[in-house]
Amino acid sequence: MDRSRRRFSTTPVARHNHLDPPKPGEERKVTFVTKEGDRHTFEVADGDNLLDIALENDIEMEGACGGSCACSTCHVIVEDDAMYDKMEEPTDDENDMLDLAFGLTETSRLGCQLKMSKELDGLVVKLPQMTRNMQASDFASK
Ligand code: FES
Repeated sequence: MDRSRRRFSTTPVARHNHLDPPKPGEERKVTFVTKEGDRHTFEVADGDNLLDIALENDIEMEGACGGSCACSTCHVIVEDDAMYDKMEEPTDDENDMLDLAFGLTETSRLGCQLKMSKELDGLVVKLPQMTRNMQASDFASK
């Protein structure tokens, strides 16, 4: 393929969906709570970020910028305050993007910036009702 003729695409990059399985004894649990209230728990490895985990497991998270902290479509809400307090502080870039997120809460984070670790084992995050880059499904008639 002639690389010089490749066109820019806004489709999330295809590097997702290649998460390595956790090493035995180092499995970390993370639970996503969907807009509908369904809970989905996965065993993942240290270093996996929440956007990649969501995409790999067909959790509805848009990730419009491909995880480069340039949108707010991977917005998640950490369910437990104590778990939120264990996380590293968001960077200025993350805070700037979070300011654009709909439904911002005290425990909001960007999924692509949150990496799993031993400390975050058992993390539960809720998906917001809407993101700024809204999808057709957000407008589906009820
Ligand atoms: S995917 Fe765009 S900021 Fe996380």
